[in-house]
Amino acid sequence: MTVTTPHVLFVDDEPALRTVMAERLRDRGFEVAEAENGERALDLLDQFAFDIIITDLRMPGIDGGRVIESAVGRYPGIVAIVITGYGTIKDAVDAIKRGASDFIAKPFQFDELMHVLEKALEQRRLASENAYLRSQLEERYQFGGILGRSRPMQDLFHLLETVARSNSTILITGETGTGKEVVARAIHHNSPRRAHRFVALNCSAIPETLLEAELFGHVRGAFTGAVGTRQGRLEQAHKGTLFLDEVGTMSTALQVKLLRALQEREFERVGDSQTIKVDVRVIAATNSDLARLVAAGTFREDLYYRLNGIPIQLPPLRERRDDIPLLVKHFLSKFAPGSSIHTSQSAMRALMAYDWPGNVRQLENAMERAVALCAGRQEIDVADLPPELQQTPHASAPPYVEFPDEGLDLPRYLATIERDLIRRALDRARGNRNKAADLLRLKRTTLVEKLKRIGAG
Ligand SMILES: Nc1ncnc2c1ncn2[C@@H]1O[C@H](COP(=O)(O)OP(=O)(O)OP(=O)(O)O)[C@@H](O)[C@H]1O
Ligand SMILES: [Mg+2]
Repeated sequence: MTVTTPHVLFVDDEPALRTVMAERLRDRGFEVAEAENGERALDLLDQFAFDIIITDLRMPGIDGGRVIESAVGRYPGIVAIVITGYGTIKDAVDAIKRGASDFIAKPFQFDELMHVLEKALEQRRLASENAYLRSQLEERYQFGGILGRSRPMQDLFHLLETVARSNSTILITGETGTGKEVVARAIHHNSPRRAHRFVALNCSAIPETLLEAELFGHVRGAFTGAVGTRQGRLEQAHKGTLFLDEVGTMSTALQVKLLRALQEREFERVGDSQTIKVDVRVIAATNSDLARLVAAGTFREDLYYRLNGIPIQLPPLRERRDDIPLLVKHFLSKFAPGSSIHTSQSAMRALMAYDWPGNVRQLENAMERAVALCAGRQEIDVADLPPELQQTPHASAPPYVEFPDEGLDLPRYLATIERDLIRRALDRARGNRNKAADLLRLKRTTLVEKLKRIGAG
């Protein structure tokens, strides 16, 4: 039971029953308000958030069903119990559909009421505990903005927790769009350096001639166009983290200079002889296979080992499809905040079947496009997905099933799918069992047997 006194609203037009039950509930420690009809109940519900409402169903004026509906609509967590007269089970069922937790039939003893009430409170406690557990789980499905529930991503989160605390140089490899930059940022923001800067330098985006000055800075007149003295990215990242993106594209001449800066933690600005010391943690990323570049002689082996202190390999999305639904949900709420937009079964199947050469970035773009094409519709369908996804053969792919955290009963689950497909085959065949058996590639006798087993024969 709740720690604070639960507040009960007791609604019944029969004064004797109402006052007796209310009195006994008070004896048990409940705080009880009474209402003699539906109108009064709605008034009281306006004024106070009750934990529990117990109401008679048949009352003159506003009946119990409407009271329940408005109570549950207003306070979704409320425990609602209805009192029914003799032979009005149908009304009770109706009230449960409107949100009542349980019902109790007149005449009843107080102990019966307590029993129903305690059961309902226990159910509510379990429901909120489940919601809590679910939110805990969702928490575990991300690390500093990186989402993932697949095994490889869960392992990665573990690794990141440890390496974030260290000072080691990290080399992140992975195909384009696998999240190398998000990972680099997450490491920085979970490291002791988080109060200082995260400075990114994309080595392939800057012309080779300017890259050295960009990295180390320069003094006035160091080269044509160097009008003033400027700090390089290494200096800007002092005490923080320097993210060297696409390191594979760096010229060998610059590689030598970078190696020295990493080894000695010191360097000179271009055109200057004064040595500058820095304390920087370096995270490098590449989508090329550096080991191959080393073998081919375009990347220095010593620099490779220097950068590759802790290697982190990000698996492509097609090797961790379990992450797709989570990412889809995330991007949909990013591009359509506050909406209840979702994907249809067949759209999810297509998303799950596709190979995603552009990985998470491509999925993100696909979701942004789908939200735009959806133009207010709440369900994204296959037609809203990029053309390349529509060509993937997914019609006979198995339906996508969100795997529940608590697991599932496989034989039972398969049986429900079997039953559904058999029923649909029979519909399609207009009840003709020979045809239905053909549609299911079954022998007629096998189909008949199955029908018997599921009680449809
Ligand atoms: N696990 C993830 N959870 C949430 N968002 C992600 C995840 N992985 C990638 N993203 C998003 O996908 C996009 C691409 O990620 P990012 O820029 O880190 O990829 P990258 O590996 O650096 O790609 P490239 O090699 O093309 O530079 C970003 O918008 C990023 O926020
Ligand atoms: Mg990147």
